[in-house]
Amino acid sequence: MDRKLKKEKLVIIFLGPQGSGKGTQAELLGKKLHMPVIEMGKLLRQASQINSVKGRKIKKIINEGKLLPLSETIDILKNEINKINLQKGFILDGFPRNLDQAKKIEKFKNKIVIYLSLSEKETLKRLGKRKTCSKCGKVFIDKRSLIKCSVCNGKLEQREDDKPSTIKKRLNLFRKSTKPVLEYYQKKNELININGEQSIDNVFKEILKKLGIGK
Ligand code: AP5
Ligand code: MG
Repeated sequence: MDRKLKKEKLVIIFLGPQGSGKGTQAELLGKKLHMPVIEMGKLLRQASQINSVKGRKIKKIINEGKLLPLSETIDILKNEINKINLQKGFILDGFPRNLDQAKKIEKFKNKIVIYLSLSEKETLKRLGKRKTCSKCGKVFIDKRSLIKCSVCNGKLEQREDDKPSTIKKRLNLFRKSTKPVLEYYQKKNELININGEQSIDNVFKEILKKLGIGK
């Protein structure tokens, strides 16, 4: 087992392009390790539902496929971290996305960063088939028969930012802003590379193997 897993205040970060399975794998690993998951995109989508000037501003930025300003993401992140038993640590999905954000979590010394790689072609294919629960945010692979969420019975929808033109903008931002974050963690020896192109089960197996955890 990776010696970092045994230490306190572990932070496991999932990074990867759009549709690489960050949310899917973070949920699986959270259950396996009994660690809470902080999903930045989901928290921001929840904040965007609030009918206020701030809520509308967040909605516009997300729907345009841009990144929220640093101060807004940090406020939301701090708020979530405050709810957590820090000794146990937590899993972060979709944060940090640029070097400014990475510097903000430098105080967490015990980090493992999991990078899920994926081709642009596969991103477009997966996000074209994704359905998300409008109530609880659970993610599904689209089937015609699938209308309601199996967890909370909420309505399943396509995310507003999952249109091909917006996906391309999000991918460009990933290349421009988030790729340097990968290099940053690589240099610090904190990065684990995973082939995100495999089935959900095989991606999870590779993660567990590289973390030194038995299934
Ligand atoms: P966010 O919601 O995080 O979007 P994202 O990074 O584009 O990633 P996705 O959620 O689209 O993909 P995923 O990797 O989680 O894949 P998933 O598991 O769903 O962020 C949205 C927006 O919020 C941003 O654009 C930005 O505006 C804002 N934001 C978020 N964080 C921010 C930050 N730190 N700073 C500033 N702004 C921020 O899988 C995709 C689909 O494929 C699903 O249907 C799934 O079932 C399926 N699938 C998963 N794995 C596999 C597999 N192995 N094989 C086949 N299908 C699979
Ligand atoms: Mg996600």
